[in-house]
Amino acid sequence: MDDTQHGAAERAKFREMKEGTAEDWAIIGGEYMAFAKGLPDRVLDHLKLLDGDFGGFPVDRLEHSLQTATRAHRDGRDERYVVMALLHDIGDTLGSYNHPEVAASIIKPFVSEEVHWICQNHGAFQGYYYFHFLGMDQNAREKFRGHEHFEACREFCEKYDQAAFDPDYDSESLEFFEPMVRRVMARPLASMYAKALAKE
Ligand SMILES: [Fe+2]
Ligand SMILES: [Fe+2]
Repeated sequence: MDDTQHGAAERAKFREMKEGTAEDWAIIGGEYMAFAKGLPDRVLDHLKLLDGDFGGFPVDRLEHSLQTATRAHRDGRDERYVVMALLHDIGDTLGSYNHPEVAASIIKPFVSEEVHWICQNHGAFQGYYYFHFLGMDQNAREKFRGHEHFEACREFCEKYDQAAFDPDYDSESLEFFEPMVRRVMARPLASMYAKALAKE
């Protein structure tokens, strides 16, 4: 993506979108395909920002992510679930006050509604293990009681997320999970852009 490459590339002619033509959008559409294919690389690069970020925890955020994913994988979870487990805290950097929603948005086109829900709401369920130490409501998750995915989210936190702070656990490496991320993110299950992507 260096400047020379970009300078040579064809560009749309409009100054306002309402002047756009089919020709313009053929150019942009072609660029979008290539850009979308780079998503797994950008996600993996961003995940690496968690390396060395301990925040006071016994393991850094990258190890916590790898450990959560490894535990889910060894417990027989499918690939989409494991990728969610790997990425569930990727929003810590840019979504420091709402990190579950960042990860949930990134994985949403590639996972089931249940797996998305687990990711989006894991913060309140994780709170069961520590909110009371911070003067918060340990039972914050109770507001979701009765929801069809309550048990699935409780289970994710109990078995994998809250359990993934062991410095002595033999987690798989990021390289181990890379092919899974690439396969899961190769094509969206659902996206408002799916029709354009399908033309490819
Ligand atoms: Fe989290
Ligand atoms: Fe976590």
